[in-house]
Amino acid sequence: MLVKMEALPGQEKLNPTENQATPNLEPALMTEKAELQAIGPDLVKQARQKQTVLVTGHAGFIGYHVAKNLLERGDKVIGIDSLNTHYDTRLKRERLTLLDELAKATGSKFTSIRADLCDANALHECLDTWKVQRIIHLAGQTDKFLSQDKPEECVQNNINAFMVLLEACRKFKINHLSYASSHAVYGAGFDKAMSEADCANHPLRLDAATQRACELMAHSYSHLFGLPTTGLRFFSVYGPWGRPDSVLFSFTRKILEGKPIQIYNEGSNSRDYTYIDDLVEGVVRASDMPAQPDPAWTVENPGQATSSAPWRVLNIGAGVPQSIEELIAALELALGKTAVKEYLTGPMLEKARSCADVTALVEATQFRPQTKFDRGITQFVEWFRTYYQV
Ligand SMILES: NC(=O)c1ccc[n+]([C@@H]2O[C@H](COP(=O)([O-])OP(=O)(O)OC[C@H]3O[C@@H](n4cnc5c(N)ncnc54)[C@H](O)[C@@H]3O)[C@@H](O)[C@H]2O)c1
Repeated sequence: MLVKMEALPGQEKLNPTENQATPNLEPALMTEKAELQAIGPDLVKQARQKQTVLVTGHAGFIGYHVAKNLLERGDKVIGIDSLNTHYDTRLKRERLTLLDELAKATGSKFTSIRADLCDANALHECLDTWKVQRIIHLAGQTDKFLSQDKPEECVQNNINAFMVLLEACRKFKINHLSYASSHAVYGAGFDKAMSEADCANHPLRLDAATQRACELMAHSYSHLFGLPTTGLRFFSVYGPWGRPDSVLFSFTRKILEGKPIQIYNEGSNSRDYTYIDDLVEGVVRASDMPAQPDPAWTVENPGQATSSAPWRVLNIGAGVPQSIEELIAALELALGKTAVKEYLTGPMLEKARSCADVTALVEATQFRPQTKFDRGITQFVEWFRTYYQV
């Protein structure tokens, strides 16, 4: 059954326009029109038409920002979220309040539904009632500890929910399904940038394995029913209104409280951190361009990232890995406070590295993430200090 959500007013007064400065994306936007025209007039038309978009997980970090972007440009947005309690739901409710306020201010249509995606009836009712044209699926769970402690829940929220979504897409003839995947599908041990052309059949974590399974299930639906699908492999997303269970939150808190930060592998681990505004731009642009069959794809020469069906996977990352030391230095600068570092001795653990090759993203969307790391961290810290009053 559908439960239309009444977003609760936030307990702390936050003005989103004051707290979330946008990085300078103007160069990309200026060239956008010419580049879109180069892609083809039909796609440009499709891309610019206002759509009714279902965003799943819109109370979550990424879903909130994507829904916000769509409302700002005038799309009609339907959001579905179960508001699970994996982290503080106050943050989720406040994101919903902001979306409500934004819809009122812009005149864009926004409907917020509290439902579990595994509830097929609720989903069908939603797609039918609001005549949804496309879906951006951002509900899911990525927490590696939770996926170890509660593996069945991970499979339920990632695979079972995706199965229900695919069937609904088929039944309601959805134009394009874009969905979150992760860099973790590549597994570990990479000394180079991770490309969609690389094999992704050895994920190490269960949540990553479920995300890879979703990519393969999507392929089957793209092939059998011609459903255009795009799997978006995200690389460590950060920014205002982020997830409190992330490393960035815990490091920021520890630095502010003067508590030690534990550092493994002599600080040599590195991650590709993607600023939320860059990620959203990539997600929305990819969603605007439904996946197409790749005429060059053959069984004899099977590329990993496309198919003879309208299916593709795309990395969205900054493409610039930052070591733990660089992350801490950026936080220290933004906070004006020195971290207490605790280097853990003992045998080196397997090095954790991630770096996105974004060639395919740039080719498909004419957009390259461009927020400088220091700037993104500053935006995050400003939001953090205002939100938590610290
Ligand atoms: N944040 C990152 O760095 C990152 C990196 C790689 C992949 N991802 C993926 O991106 C997606 C969004 O991540 P996020 O950071 O916004 O997480 P998030 O936890 O903030 O948001 C996910 C939202 O989905 C909702 N949800 C979960 N299961 C649901 C279900 N069965 N039905 C309805 N709603 C449900 C939750 O209530 C939550 O609000 C996830 O699939 C995640 O695995 C995120």
